[in-house]
Amino acid sequence: MAQPVGVSLVLGLLLLFFLPLQRNAAPYDPTWESLDSRPLPTWFDEVKFGIFIHWGLFSVPSFGSEWFWWYWQKEKRESYIKFMETNYPPGFSYGDFGPLFTAEFFDADQWADILKSSGAKYVVLTSKHHEGFTMWGSKYSWSWNAVDVGPKRDIVAELASSIRNRTGLRFGLYHSLFEWFNPLFLSDASSAFRTKQFPNAKSLPELYEIVNRYQPEILWSDGDGYAPDTYWNSTGFLAWLYNESPVRDTVVTNDRWGAGSICKHGGYYTCSDRYNPGHLLPHKWENCMTIDKKSWGYRRNARLSDYLTIEELVKQLVETVSCGGNFLMNIGPTHDGRIPVIFEERLMQMGKWLSVNGEAIFSTKPWRAQNDSVTPGVWYTFKPKENVVFAIFLNWPSSGILMLGEPKGIAEMTEVQMIGYGEPLKWIPLGEKGMVVAIPPLPFSKLPCEWGWTLQLTNVN
Ligand SMILES: *[C@@H]1O[C@H](CO)[C@@H](O)[C@H](O)[C@H]1NC(C)=O
Ligand SMILES: *[C@@H]1O[C@H](CO)[C@@H](O)[C@H](O)[C@H]1NC(C)=O
Repeated sequence: MAQPVGVSLVLGLLLLFFLPLQRNAAPYDPTWESLDSRPLPTWFDEVKFGIFIHWGLFSVPSFGSEWFWWYWQKEKRESYIKFMETNYPPGFSYGDFGPLFTAEFFDADQWADILKSSGAKYVVLTSKHHEGFTMWGSKYSWSWNAVDVGPKRDIVAELASSIRNRTGLRFGLYHSLFEWFNPLFLSDASSAFRTKQFPNAKSLPELYEIVNRYQPEILWSDGDGYAPDTYWNSTGFLAWLYNESPVRDTVVTNDRWGAGSICKHGGYYTCSDRYNPGHLLPHKWENCMTIDKKSWGYRRNARLSDYLTIEELVKQLVETVSCGGNFLMNIGPTHDGRIPVIFEERLMQMGKWLSVNGEAIFSTKPWRAQNDSVTPGVWYTFKPKENVVFAIFLNWPSSGILMLGEPKGIAEMTEVQMIGYGEPLKWIPLGEKGMVVAIPPLPFSKLPCEWGWTLQLTNVN
């Protein structure tokens, strides 16, 4: 029977309307080829600076490193064995640190305010490190989580809610795939990962749980335990994350999803801890590093010289952003829930520097040159729409003259300002050799900031 024209028209229009929707419903297949084609949500490149937080049971001994359990029980390092013998009763196990993780000073609102004061735009908390202790009340980590043991509080929930309610910062979660001593993981490992008891019973249900409950906008995966991504079912999980999860439109992931995936697959690249290549990469990347040069978790035995200075941190931030990276700077809170004041001070200093120079950092793009070819310690960022090049110089020129070999000033066109100073600066073109900028001999009280200064160059070639 022939359909009346009107009906087929309506049907056709309906089809036109729904077809694209259907096609978009599951745009990603569980293959790296498909998943790697997902454009990184644009917010991530704009925010540039985040704070990493390593907090867990390792914060109780707070000795040596967050790898405490491994170094003590597996590698049997002498300093760790001696530390335990000297300070804890015989037979004391790692699990006995659980009740000592008290967090009595943990005030998520206060943390949120401190984190915000750093100028950072995102936060990544260790929801579970390689020890396996979950900082939320996981159904899959019976009696080995912060709600059952220790603080008896859902740390992830409290921090997520304070960050979201008090600050405009994005909230992300670190999650370790493997667990050093989990019997299921060890059993799988002994079958060369042919069995998948651990991912099926633990890591995958946990990942779905944290995404559905806390809706992290960054999923910072780590700890593949030398197992391939097929063991972890990473592509299956990521296809769900990108297609169906509650954060599918905004979530950003890193590249640590199984042996061999780092610097190759996933969202942005981390490549290695403290990665700072010094040149532009064709793929979005992040420099994750820690203020304590020797540890990510808090160490009571740290010396002042173990902490990076604010000059070193500003340098890292500037180099990273110039080369197209994001800077993820780590702090280690204490077992009783404090952000040690040395970290608080560094955070406030970063905030102070960014309150002057933030426009040369946030929402910028890499320029054609990342650093200057003549003067060391000058790094460039770019705002294409405004046609502004920022030259951040980390050494104040005592000569009063800053040689720039990369930007070519144009007479009567180019304008040079120092951010926070107010008056335009004098400069001379050197043709193909660049330009010379006169830096005024400012008294200390007139300096816009310390640690690094920004020239704003409008209309240069
Ligand atoms: C593993 O990924 C596949 C898709 O590749 C999915 O169908 C399956 O449910 C996943 N398994 C688990 C336990 O998540
Ligand atoms: C620019 O940076 C690269 C990478 O850090 C470095 O090797 C080079 O020496 C720098 N150039 C100058 C003039 O400092």
